[in-house]
Amino acid sequence: GATDLTLRINGQVRTVRAEPRVTLLDALRERLDLTGTKKGCDHGQCGACTVHIDGQRVNSCLTLAVMAQGKEITTIEGLAKGDELHPMQEAFLKHDGFQCGYCTPGQIMSGVACVKEGHAKTDDQAREWMSGNLCRCGAYANILAAVREVAG
Ligand code: FES
Repeated sequence: GATDLTLRINGQVRTVRAEPRVTLLDALRERLDLTGTKKGCDHGQCGACTVHIDGQRVNSCLTLAVMAQGKEITTIEGLAKGDELHPMQEAFLKHDGFQCGYCTPGQIMSGVACVKEGHAKTDDQAREWMSGNLCRCGAYANILAAVREVAG
């Protein structure tokens, strides 16, 4: 049956009633109105659902909400500080790192983790790290440029 889960998301404590089988992705989108995180494949293949748990990127479609209790969850909604975009968001704007935009939240969350964990020192390295985030529009060159710029 459903139980009350306590989740810490973007610095706020939220309570959500959910069955143990509910994924973090569905909890975010359908029960917490955090729809910035996208559902593409729902099977760990596309990266559209990427969020951070304790600073590590994860596919939220492969993570049960119940397992995310007691951890710090960050979604795309939590990246900007007020009106100030995160440098990765600025870089995606500057380099046109999106076309339709559906994959963009996941790309940005992956990009942030890529730079923070030191996987963006070369184009090849960044491309490899970002390879789990698919873009149907094929904006890969611009996405790579954005990630590499933030890597410095
Ligand atoms: Fe999670 Fe595609 S929706 S990887």
